[in-house]
Amino acid sequence: MLVKTFGSAVYGVNAITITVEVNVSGGQKFFMVGLPDSAVKESEQRIESALKTTGHYYPRTKVVVNLAPADIRKTGTAFDLSIAVGILGATEQLENPERLADYVIMGELSLDGTIQPIKGALPIAIQARKENFKGLIVPKQNAKEAGMVNNLQVYGVEHISDVINFFKDETSLQPTVVNTREEFFNSQYEYEIDFSDVKGQSNIKRALEIAAAGSHNAILIGPPGAGKTMLAKRLPTILPPLSLQEALETTKIHSVAGKLPENSTLISKRPFRSPHHTISDVALVGGGTNPQPGEISLAHNGVLFLDELPEFKRTVLEVMRQPMEERRVTISRAKIAIDFPASFMLISSMNPCPCGYYNHPEKECTCPPGAVQKYLNKISGPLLDRIDLHVEVTPVPFSELSGAENSEPSATIRERVIIAREIQAERYKGVEGIYANAQISSKQLKEICVITQAGQTLLKAAMDKLNLSARAYDRILKVSRTIADLAQSADIKIEHLAEAIQYRSLDREGWAG
Ligand SMILES: Nc1ncnc2c1ncn2[C@@H]1O[C@H](COP(=O)(O)OP(=O)(O)OP(=O)(O)O)[C@@H](O)[C@H]1O
Ligand SMILES: [Mg+2]
Ligand SMILES: [Zn+2]
Repeated sequence: MLVKTFGSAVYGVNAITITVEVNVSGGQKFFMVGLPDSAVKESEQRIESALKTTGHYYPRTKVVVNLAPADIRKTGTAFDLSIAVGILGATEQLENPERLADYVIMGELSLDGTIQPIKGALPIAIQARKENFKGLIVPKQNAKEAGMVNNLQVYGVEHISDVINFFKDETSLQPTVVNTREEFFNSQYEYEIDFSDVKGQSNIKRALEIAAAGSHNAILIGPPGAGKTMLAKRLPTILPPLSLQEALETTKIHSVAGKLPENSTLISKRPFRSPHHTISDVALVGGGTNPQPGEISLAHNGVLFLDELPEFKRTVLEVMRQPMEERRVTISRAKIAIDFPASFMLISSMNPCPCGYYNHPEKECTCPPGAVQKYLNKISGPLLDRIDLHVEVTPVPFSELSGAENSEPSATIRERVIIAREIQAERYKGVEGIYANAQISSKQLKEICVITQAGQTLLKAAMDKLNLSARAYDRILKVSRTIADLAQSADIKIEHLAEAIQYRSLDREGWAG
Protein backbone atom coordinates (compact mmCIF):
# COMPACT_ATOMS: atom_id res chain seq x y z
CA MET A 1 0.00 0.00 0.00
CA LEU A 2 1.18 3.54 -0.78
CA VAL A 3 0.63 6.36 1.70
CA LYS A 4 1.58 9.98 1.66
CA THR A 5 2.41 12.33 4.50
CA PHE A 6 4.45 15.49 4.85
CA GLY A 7 7.65 16.69 6.43
CA SER A 8 9.57 19.91 6.09
CA ALA A 9 13.15 20.86 5.22
CA VAL A 10 14.64 24.02 6.65
CA TYR A 11 16.80 26.24 4.42
CA GLY A 12 18.19 29.39 5.87
CA VAL A 13 15.32 30.81 7.87
CA ASN A 14 12.62 29.30 5.69
CA ALA A 15 11.11 25.85 5.32
CA ILE A 16 10.11 23.86 2.25
CA THR A 17 7.40 21.23 2.51
CA ILE A 18 8.61 17.73 1.67
CA THR A 19 6.23 15.00 0.54
CA VAL A 20 7.02 11.70 2.24
CA GLU A 21 5.70 8.77 0.21
CA VAL A 22 5.97 5.30 1.66
CA ASN A 23 5.24 2.18 -0.33
CA VAL A 24 5.42 -1.32 1.08
CA SER A 25 5.30 -4.19 -1.40
CA GLY A 26 6.82 -7.62 -2.19
CA GLY A 27 10.59 -7.99 -2.10
CA GLN A 28 12.96 -7.55 0.78
CA LYS A 29 14.78 -4.29 0.85
CA PHE A 30 14.62 -0.78 2.33
CA PHE A 31 15.08 2.04 -0.14
CA MET A 32 15.19 5.71 0.58
CA VAL A 33 15.21 8.02 -2.42
CA GLY A 34 15.09 11.78 -2.87
CA LEU A 35 18.52 13.07 -1.75
CA PRO A 36 18.57 12.09 1.93
CA ASP A 37 21.83 12.58 3.83
CA SER A 38 23.30 9.79 5.95
CA ALA A 39 21.41 10.82 9.09
CA VAL A 40 18.08 10.52 7.24
CA LYS A 41 19.13 7.17 5.78
CA GLU A 42 19.92 5.83 9.21
CA SER A 43 16.33 6.46 10.30
CA GLU A 44 15.49 2.86 9.36
CA GLN A 45 17.24 1.54 12.47
CA ARG A 46 15.61 4.02 14.82
CA ILE A 47 12.18 3.48 13.31
CA GLU A 48 12.42 -0.29 13.48
CA SER A 49 13.33 -0.18 17.14
CA ALA A 50 10.71 2.45 18.02
CA LEU A 51 7.93 0.51 16.30
CA LYS A 52 8.83 -2.69 18.11
CA THR A 53 8.72 -1.07 21.54
CA THR A 54 5.15 0.04 20.85
CA GLY A 55 4.04 -3.45 19.86
CA HIS A 56 3.99 -2.75 16.15
CA TYR A 57 5.92 -4.64 13.54
CA TYR A 58 8.43 -3.46 11.03
CA PRO A 59 7.75 -4.86 7.56
CA ARG A 60 10.03 -7.62 6.33
CA THR A 61 8.98 -6.84 2.79
CA LYS A 62 10.19 -4.10 0.47
CA VAL A 63 9.85 -0.56 1.84
CA VAL A 64 10.39 2.39 -0.45
CA VAL A 65 10.50 5.88 1.00
CA ASN A 66 10.48 8.75 -1.45
CA LEU A 67 11.19 12.27 -0.30
CA ALA A 68 10.09 14.85 -2.84
CA PRO A 69 11.04 17.22 -4.39
CA ALA A 70 14.12 15.14 -5.10
CA ASP A 71 16.51 18.00 -5.84
CA ILE A 72 16.38 19.38 -2.30
CA ARG A 73 18.85 17.88 0.13
CA LYS A 74 17.21 16.46 3.27
CA THR A 75 19.36 16.49 6.34
CA GLY A 76 19.24 15.34 9.93
CA THR A 77 17.08 13.08 11.99
CA ALA A 78 13.86 15.06 12.11
CA PHE A 79 12.21 13.10 9.29
CA ASP A 80 12.13 9.95 11.48
CA LEU A 81 8.62 10.54 12.72
CA SER A 82 6.93 11.22 9.37
CA ILE A 83 8.63 8.19 7.82
CA ALA A 84 7.73 5.96 10.78
CA VAL A 85 4.09 7.01 10.70
CA GLY A 86 4.12 6.55 6.92
CA ILE A 87 5.38 2.98 7.35
CA LEU A 88 2.63 2.28 9.89
CA GLY A 89 0.09 3.62 7.43
CA ALA A 90 1.48 1.65 4.51
CA THR A 91 1.40 -1.60 6.51
CA GLU A 92 -2.15 -0.94 7.72
CA GLN A 93 -1.12 -0.65 11.35
CA LEU A 94 -2.50 2.87 11.64
CA GLU A 95 -6.14 3.81 11.74
CA ASN A 96 -7.42 6.40 9.27
CA PRO A 97 -4.19 6.60 7.22
CA GLU A 98 -5.97 8.88 4.74
CA ARG A 99 -5.68 11.62 7.40
CA LEU A 100 -1.89 11.46 7.18
CA ALA A 101 -1.90 13.79 4.20
CA ASP A 102 -3.51 16.57 6.25
CA TYR A 103 -0.48 17.03 8.50
CA VAL A 104 3.13 18.02 8.49
CA ILE A 105 4.86 15.68 10.92
CA MET A 106 8.40 16.20 12.24
CA GLY A 107 10.40 14.68 15.08
CA GLU A 108 13.46 12.61 15.86
CA LEU A 109 12.85 9.15 17.28
CA SER A 110 14.77 7.52 20.08
CA LEU A 111 15.05 3.74 20.04
CA ASP A 112 12.28 3.47 22.65
CA GLY A 113 9.89 5.63 20.67
CA THR A 114 10.29 8.87 22.60
CA ILE A 115 10.49 11.95 20.46
CA GLN A 116 13.42 14.37 20.57
CA PRO A 117 13.26 18.09 19.75
CA ILE A 118 14.00 19.43 16.29
CA LYS A 119 15.51 22.57 14.81
CA GLY A 120 13.45 25.10 12.88
CA ALA A 121 9.95 24.35 14.23
CA LEU A 122 8.93 28.00 13.80
CA PRO A 123 9.71 28.32 10.06
CA ILE A 124 8.19 24.85 9.58
CA ALA A 125 4.97 26.04 11.21
CA ILE A 126 4.93 29.25 9.14
CA GLN A 127 5.24 27.22 5.93
CA ALA A 128 2.60 24.68 7.01
CA ARG A 129 0.11 27.47 7.59
CA LYS A 130 0.96 29.08 4.26
CA GLU A 131 0.11 25.83 2.52
CA ASN A 132 -3.12 25.45 4.52
CA PHE A 133 -2.30 22.20 6.27
CA LYS A 134 -4.84 21.13 8.83
CA GLY A 135 -2.15 20.75 11.42
CA LEU A 136 1.44 20.28 12.45
CA ILE A 137 2.76 17.51 14.70
CA VAL A 138 6.07 18.32 16.41
CA PRO A 139 7.99 17.27 19.51
CA LYS A 140 6.43 18.60 22.70
CA GLN A 141 9.52 20.73 23.41
CA ASN A 142 8.95 22.63 20.16
CA ALA A 143 5.16 22.95 20.40
CA LYS A 144 5.06 26.42 21.95
CA GLU A 145 7.56 27.78 19.47
CA ALA A 146 5.50 26.45 16.55
CA GLY A 147 2.27 27.38 18.31
CA MET A 148 3.03 31.07 17.89
CA VAL A 149 1.76 30.77 14.34
CA ASN A 150 -1.93 31.68 14.17
CA ASN A 151 -4.55 29.63 12.36
CA LEU A 152 -2.61 26.39 12.49
CA GLN A 153 -3.32 23.50 14.86
CA VAL A 154 -0.03 22.55 16.47
CA TYR A 155 0.19 19.27 18.39
CA GLY A 156 3.11 18.54 20.71
CA VAL A 157 3.96 14.85 21.09
CA GLU A 158 6.26 13.03 23.49
CA HIS A 159 6.15 9.49 22.18
CA ILE A 160 5.31 7.83 18.88
CA SER A 161 2.32 6.21 20.60
CA ASP A 162 0.82 9.74 21.03
CA VAL A 163 0.83 10.08 17.25
CA ILE A 164 -0.62 6.61 16.70
CA ASN A 165 -3.42 7.37 19.16
CA PHE A 166 -4.07 10.70 17.52
CA PHE A 167 -4.80 9.06 14.19
CA LYS A 168 -7.10 6.65 15.96
CA ASP A 169 -8.88 9.44 17.83
CA GLU A 170 -8.44 13.06 16.87
CA THR A 171 -9.40 14.28 20.33
CA SER A 172 -6.57 12.47 22.08
CA LEU A 173 -4.33 15.51 21.67
CA GLN A 174 -5.08 19.14 22.40
CA PRO A 175 -3.69 21.81 20.10
CA THR A 176 -1.12 24.10 21.72
CA VAL A 177 -2.45 27.52 22.54
CA VAL A 178 -0.03 30.42 22.65
CA ASN A 179 -0.97 34.05 22.95
CA THR A 180 1.99 35.47 21.07
CA ARG A 181 1.15 39.10 21.67
CA GLU A 182 0.60 38.63 25.35
CA GLU A 183 3.88 36.73 25.80
CA PHE A 184 5.65 39.40 23.79
CA PHE A 185 4.40 42.37 25.73
CA ASN A 186 4.74 40.67 29.09
CA SER A 187 8.42 39.91 28.84
CA GLN A 188 9.69 42.82 26.76
CA TYR A 189 11.47 44.76 29.48
CA GLU A 190 12.46 41.98 31.81
CA TYR A 191 16.20 42.39 32.13
CA GLU A 192 18.00 41.06 35.17
CA ILE A 193 20.71 43.67 34.86
CA ASP A 194 20.48 47.44 34.74
CA PHE A 195 22.72 50.43 34.19
CA SER A 196 22.01 51.54 37.73
CA ASP A 197 24.22 48.62 38.87
CA VAL A 198 27.22 50.49 37.50
CA LYS A 199 28.65 53.06 39.89
CA GLY A 200 30.11 56.26 38.48
CA GLN A 201 31.35 55.98 34.87
CA SER A 202 28.89 58.62 33.73
CA ASN A 203 31.02 59.48 30.71
CA ILE A 204 31.08 55.84 29.57
CA LYS A 205 27.34 55.53 30.06
CA ARG A 206 26.91 58.66 28.00
CA ALA A 207 29.03 57.12 25.21
CA LEU A 208 26.94 53.95 25.27
CA GLU A 209 23.78 56.04 25.18
CA ILE A 210 25.08 57.70 22.02
CA ALA A 211 25.99 54.30 20.57
CA ALA A 212 22.49 53.01 21.31
CA ALA A 213 20.83 56.13 19.95
CA GLY A 214 22.57 56.04 16.56
CA SER A 215 23.21 52.27 16.40
CA HIS A 216 26.93 52.98 16.34
CA ASN A 217 29.52 50.27 16.84
CA ALA A 218 31.80 50.94 19.78
CA ILE A 219 34.97 49.72 21.40
CA LEU A 220 35.74 50.03 25.11
CA ILE A 221 39.42 50.38 25.89
CA GLY A 222 40.69 50.00 29.42
CA PRO A 223 42.71 48.07 31.98
CA PRO A 224 41.59 44.77 33.51
CA GLY A 225 38.75 45.12 35.98
CA ALA A 226 37.70 48.57 34.79
CA GLY A 227 34.16 47.35 34.16
CA LYS A 228 34.21 46.98 30.36
CA THR A 229 32.36 43.68 30.30
CA MET A 230 29.89 44.87 32.89
CA LEU A 231 29.06 47.98 30.86
CA ALA A 232 28.79 46.20 27.50
CA LYS A 233 26.37 43.61 28.87
CA ARG A 234 23.97 46.36 29.82
CA LEU A 235 23.72 47.87 26.36
CA PRO A 236 20.61 45.87 25.34
CA THR A 237 18.76 47.34 28.32
CA ILE A 238 18.89 50.84 26.84
CA LEU A 239 18.08 49.92 23.25
CA PRO A 240 14.55 50.56 21.99
CA PRO A 241 12.27 47.54 22.51
CA LEU A 242 12.04 44.99 19.73
CA SER A 243 9.00 45.26 17.52
CA LEU A 244 6.93 42.10 17.18
CA GLN A 245 8.25 41.76 13.64
CA GLU A 246 11.88 42.00 14.79
CA ALA A 247 11.18 39.56 17.61
CA LEU A 248 9.85 37.04 15.10
CA GLU A 249 12.88 37.47 12.82
CA THR A 250 15.27 36.90 15.69
CA THR A 251 13.29 33.96 17.03
CA LYS A 252 13.31 32.29 13.61
CA ILE A 253 17.10 32.39 13.50
CA HIS A 254 17.39 30.91 16.99
CA SER A 255 14.80 28.29 16.06
CA VAL A 256 16.76 27.22 12.98
CA ALA A 257 19.96 27.03 15.02
CA GLY A 258 18.24 24.91 17.66
CA LYS A 259 19.14 27.57 20.22
CA LEU A 260 15.70 28.35 21.61
CA PRO A 261 15.27 27.09 25.16
CA GLU A 262 12.76 24.25 25.44
CA ASN A 263 9.12 25.30 25.71
CA SER A 264 9.99 28.86 24.89
CA THR A 265 8.07 31.00 22.49
CA LEU A 266 9.16 34.37 21.32
CA ILE A 267 12.49 36.04 21.98
CA SER A 268 11.15 39.38 23.10
CA LYS A 269 14.40 40.97 24.29
CA ARG A 270 17.31 42.03 22.16
CA PRO A 271 19.89 39.27 22.04
CA PHE A 272 23.35 39.75 23.54
CA ARG A 273 25.90 37.33 22.17
CA SER A 274 29.47 37.16 23.41
CA PRO A 275 31.43 34.44 21.64
CA HIS A 276 34.85 33.50 23.01
CA HIS A 277 37.89 34.69 21.08
CA THR A 278 38.78 31.14 20.08
CA ILE A 279 35.64 30.95 17.90
CA SER A 280 35.99 29.64 14.33
CA ASP A 281 35.05 31.57 11.20
CA VAL A 282 32.05 29.33 10.58
CA ALA A 283 30.76 29.59 14.13
CA LEU A 284 31.00 33.37 13.96
CA VAL A 285 29.51 34.13 10.55
CA GLY A 286 27.63 30.89 9.81
CA GLY A 287 28.08 28.11 7.29
CA GLY A 288 28.79 24.40 7.28
CA THR A 289 27.61 21.66 4.91
CA ASN A 290 24.09 22.07 6.22
CA PRO A 291 24.31 25.86 6.59
CA GLN A 292 23.61 27.10 10.07
CA PRO A 293 23.46 30.67 11.32
CA GLY A 294 26.56 31.96 13.15
CA GLU A 295 26.89 34.23 16.17
CA ILE A 296 26.46 37.37 14.05
CA SER A 297 23.01 36.13 13.00
CA LEU A 298 22.11 34.97 16.49
CA ALA A 299 22.85 38.59 17.46
CA HIS A 300 20.41 39.85 14.78
CA ASN A 301 18.52 42.89 16.10
CA GLY A 302 20.73 42.88 19.16
CA VAL A 303 24.31 43.18 20.33
CA LEU A 304 27.40 41.20 19.40
CA PHE A 305 30.06 41.63 22.08
CA LEU A 306 33.61 40.73 21.16
CA ASP A 307 35.47 40.83 24.46
CA GLU A 308 39.26 41.22 24.16
CA LEU A 309 39.07 42.05 20.45
CA PRO A 310 42.81 41.75 19.69
CA GLU A 311 42.74 38.14 20.89
CA PHE A 312 40.44 37.11 18.04
CA LYS A 313 42.15 35.61 15.02
CA ARG A 314 42.57 38.18 12.29
CA THR A 315 40.92 35.92 9.72
CA VAL A 316 37.84 35.62 11.91
CA LEU A 317 37.49 39.38 12.05
CA GLU A 318 38.08 39.66 8.30
CA VAL A 319 35.16 37.37 7.44
CA MET A 320 32.87 39.57 9.48
CA ARG A 321 33.48 42.67 7.38
CA GLN A 322 31.17 42.02 4.47
CA PRO A 323 28.21 40.82 6.55
CA MET A 324 28.60 43.91 8.71
CA GLU A 325 28.32 46.06 5.63
CA GLU A 326 25.35 44.21 4.16
CA ARG A 327 23.74 43.36 7.50
CA ARG A 328 23.23 39.82 6.25
CA VAL A 329 25.31 36.76 5.43
CA THR A 330 24.96 34.89 2.18
CA ILE A 331 26.17 31.32 2.15
CA SER A 332 26.46 29.82 -1.32
CA ARG A 333 25.99 26.14 -1.92
CA ALA A 334 25.96 24.17 -5.20
CA LYS A 335 22.39 24.99 -6.12
CA ILE A 336 21.20 27.62 -3.74
CA ALA A 337 22.32 30.65 -1.81
CA ILE A 338 21.12 30.88 1.75
CA ASP A 339 20.66 34.21 3.46
CA PHE A 340 20.78 34.79 7.17
CA PRO A 341 20.00 38.27 8.48
CA ALA A 342 22.80 39.76 10.60
CA SER A 343 21.92 43.28 11.64
CA PHE A 344 23.63 43.83 14.95
CA MET A 345 25.49 46.43 16.96
CA LEU A 346 29.10 45.53 17.55
CA ILE A 347 30.50 46.29 20.97
CA SER A 348 34.05 45.23 21.56
CA SER A 349 36.54 45.65 24.31
CA MET A 350 40.30 45.62 24.59
CA ASN A 351 43.08 46.26 27.01
CA PRO A 352 45.13 49.20 25.76
CA CYS A 353 48.28 47.07 25.60
CA PRO A 354 49.49 43.58 26.53
CA CYS A 355 50.15 44.51 30.19
CA GLY A 356 46.90 46.47 30.33
CA TYR A 357 48.14 49.75 31.80
CA TYR A 358 49.10 51.93 28.84
CA ASN A 359 47.63 55.43 29.35
CA HIS A 360 46.62 54.49 32.90
CA PRO A 361 46.31 57.46 35.26
CA GLU A 362 48.16 55.75 38.13
CA LYS A 363 49.91 52.57 37.03
CA GLU A 364 52.96 52.24 34.77
CA CYS A 365 52.80 50.36 31.50
CA THR A 366 55.57 47.76 31.46
CA CYS A 367 55.34 46.88 27.79
CA PRO A 368 58.45 47.15 25.60
CA PRO A 369 58.52 49.91 22.96
CA GLY A 370 56.36 49.16 19.96
CA ALA A 371 54.21 46.64 21.85
CA VAL A 372 51.22 48.95 22.05
CA GLN A 373 51.15 49.58 18.32
CA LYS A 374 51.64 45.89 17.62
CA TYR A 375 48.73 45.04 19.91
CA LEU A 376 46.44 47.52 18.17
CA ASN A 377 47.56 46.26 14.77
CA LYS A 378 46.11 42.88 15.60
CA ILE A 379 42.73 44.41 14.82
CA SER A 380 42.34 44.85 11.10
CA GLY A 381 42.14 48.45 9.91
CA PRO A 382 38.95 47.94 7.89
CA LEU A 383 37.18 46.51 10.93
CA LEU A 384 38.35 49.37 13.10
CA ASP A 385 36.99 51.64 10.37
CA ARG A 386 33.50 50.38 11.10
CA ILE A 387 33.71 51.30 14.76
CA ASP A 388 32.38 54.80 15.31
CA LEU A 389 33.05 55.26 19.00
CA HIS A 390 36.30 54.64 20.87
CA VAL A 391 35.69 54.86 24.59
CA GLU A 392 38.43 54.86 27.18
CA VAL A 393 37.38 53.25 30.44
CA THR A 394 39.27 53.93 33.64
CA PRO A 395 38.42 52.05 36.82
CA VAL A 396 36.17 53.73 39.36
CA PRO A 397 38.06 54.41 42.62
CA PHE A 398 37.16 52.10 45.48
CA SER A 399 35.62 54.94 47.52
CA GLU A 400 33.09 55.55 44.76
CA LEU A 401 32.41 51.84 44.23
CA SER A 402 31.35 51.39 47.83
CA GLY A 403 29.43 54.66 47.94
CA ALA A 404 25.66 54.69 48.03
CA GLU A 405 25.35 57.03 45.06
CA ASN A 406 22.34 56.19 42.92
CA SER A 407 22.90 56.10 39.21
CA GLU A 408 20.39 56.47 36.46
CA PRO A 409 18.34 53.36 35.63
CA SER A 410 18.29 51.88 32.14
CA ALA A 411 14.64 52.80 31.63
CA THR A 412 15.37 56.54 31.84
CA ILE A 413 18.27 56.32 29.41
CA ARG A 414 16.19 54.18 27.09
CA GLU A 415 13.50 56.84 26.89
CA ARG A 416 16.02 59.33 25.50
CA VAL A 417 17.35 56.73 23.07
CA ILE A 418 13.85 56.05 21.81
CA ILE A 419 13.23 59.74 21.11
CA ALA A 420 16.51 60.02 19.18
CA ARG A 421 15.60 56.91 17.17
CA GLU A 422 12.21 58.38 16.33
CA ILE A 423 13.87 61.51 14.96
CA GLN A 424 16.09 59.30 12.79
CA ALA A 425 13.18 57.15 11.64
CA GLU A 426 11.50 60.33 10.41
CA ARG A 427 14.68 61.52 8.68
CA TYR A 428 15.28 58.23 6.88
CA LYS A 429 11.66 57.53 6.04
CA GLY A 430 11.59 56.00 2.58
CA VAL A 431 15.34 55.34 2.51
CA GLU A 432 15.66 51.61 1.95
CA GLY A 433 17.39 49.73 4.76
CA ILE A 434 18.45 52.77 6.79
CA TYR A 435 16.96 53.59 10.13
CA ALA A 436 19.84 55.01 12.14
CA ASN A 437 22.73 57.43 11.65
CA ALA A 438 25.39 54.72 11.78
CA GLN A 439 24.06 53.22 8.57
CA ILE A 440 24.35 56.14 6.17
CA SER A 441 26.87 56.11 3.33
CA SER A 442 29.56 58.77 2.94
CA LYS A 443 27.53 60.29 0.11
CA GLN A 444 24.43 60.63 2.30
CA LEU A 445 26.65 61.91 5.05
CA LYS A 446 27.52 65.00 3.03
CA GLU A 447 23.84 65.86 2.64
CA ILE A 448 22.73 65.00 6.14
CA CYS A 449 25.59 66.05 8.41
CA VAL A 450 25.98 69.65 7.39
CA ILE A 451 28.07 71.74 9.74
CA THR A 452 28.58 75.47 10.04
CA GLN A 453 31.73 77.37 9.15
CA ALA A 454 32.61 77.58 12.85
CA GLY A 455 32.13 73.84 13.15
CA GLN A 456 34.44 73.22 10.24
CA THR A 457 37.08 75.39 11.82
CA LEU A 458 36.82 73.47 15.08
CA LEU A 459 37.01 70.14 13.31
CA LYS A 460 40.02 71.22 11.29
CA ALA A 461 41.81 72.42 14.43
CA ALA A 462 41.04 69.19 16.24
CA MET A 463 42.25 67.08 13.35
CA ASP A 464 45.54 68.96 13.35
CA LYS A 465 46.01 69.15 17.09
CA LEU A 466 45.13 65.53 17.84
CA ASN A 467 46.63 64.31 14.60
CA LEU A 468 43.42 62.53 13.69
CA SER A 469 43.41 60.42 10.58
CA ALA A 470 41.19 61.20 7.62
CA ARG A 471 38.91 58.27 8.37
CA ALA A 472 38.09 59.83 11.71
CA TYR A 473 36.41 62.75 9.94
CA ASP A 474 33.30 60.92 8.67
CA ARG A 475 32.92 59.08 11.97
CA ILE A 476 32.96 62.31 13.93
CA LEU A 477 30.29 63.80 11.69
CA LYS A 478 28.00 60.79 12.04
CA VAL A 479 28.38 60.65 15.80
CA SER A 480 27.80 64.39 16.13
CA ARG A 481 24.54 63.94 14.21
CA THR A 482 23.44 61.40 16.80
CA ILE A 483 24.47 63.66 19.67
CA ALA A 484 22.40 66.44 18.09
CA ASP A 485 19.46 64.03 17.78
CA LEU A 486 19.74 63.14 21.46
CA ALA A 487 19.60 66.87 22.19
CA GLN A 488 16.61 67.11 19.81
CA SER A 489 18.49 69.74 17.86
CA ALA A 490 17.90 70.12 14.14
CA ASP A 491 21.42 71.47 13.58
CA ILE A 492 24.74 69.98 14.51
CA LYS A 493 26.13 72.54 16.92
CA ILE A 494 29.69 73.20 18.01
CA GLU A 495 29.17 71.40 21.32
CA HIS A 496 27.92 68.30 19.53
CA LEU A 497 31.01 68.23 17.36
CA ALA A 498 33.28 68.85 20.31
CA GLU A 499 31.83 65.88 22.14
CA ALA A 500 32.06 63.62 19.10
CA ILE A 501 35.75 64.45 18.67
CA GLN A 502 36.48 62.84 22.05
CA TYR A 503 35.48 59.42 20.81
CA ARG A 504 38.37 58.82 18.42
CA SER A 505 41.12 57.76 20.83
CA LEU A 506 42.57 55.03 18.64
CA ASP A 507 42.96 57.38 15.67
CA ARG A 508 45.17 59.71 17.62
CA GLU A 509 48.73 59.56 16.53
CA GLY A 510 49.81 59.70 20.14
CA TRP A 511 47.81 56.58 20.98
CA ALA A 512 50.44 54.07 20.11
CA GLY A 513 53.24 56.52 20.71
N1 LIG B 1 31.67 51.07 37.94
C1 LIG B 1 31.46 49.92 38.56
N2 LIG B 1 30.38 49.76 39.35
C2 LIG B 1 30.13 48.59 39.98
N3 LIG B 1 30.94 47.53 39.91
C3 LIG B 1 32.05 47.61 39.13
C4 LIG B 1 32.35 48.82 38.42
N4 LIG B 1 33.50 48.61 37.76
C5 LIG B 1 33.88 47.35 38.00
N5 LIG B 1 33.02 46.75 38.84
C6 LIG B 1 33.14 45.40 39.37
O1 LIG B 1 34.34 44.83 38.88
C7 LIG B 1 34.10 43.63 38.20
C8 LIG B 1 35.03 43.52 37.03
O2 LIG B 1 34.55 44.28 35.97
P1 LIG B 1 34.59 43.76 34.48
O3 LIG B 1 34.74 42.29 34.43
O4 LIG B 1 33.45 44.34 33.77
O5 LIG B 1 35.94 44.42 34.04
P2 LIG B 1 36.67 44.37 32.65
O6 LIG B 1 37.04 45.75 32.32
O7 LIG B 1 35.82 43.65 31.68
O8 LIG B 1 37.97 43.56 32.99
P3 LIG B 1 38.83 42.53 32.13
O9 LIG B 1 39.76 43.34 31.29
O10 LIG B 1 39.55 41.79 33.20
O11 LIG B 1 37.88 41.70 31.36
C9 LIG B 1 32.65 43.67 37.83
O12 LIG B 1 32.08 42.39 37.78
C10 LIG B 1 32.04 44.48 38.93
O13 LIG B 1 31.70 43.63 40.01
MG1 LIG C 1 36.11 41.83 30.66
ZN1 LIG D 1 51.47 47.89 28.74
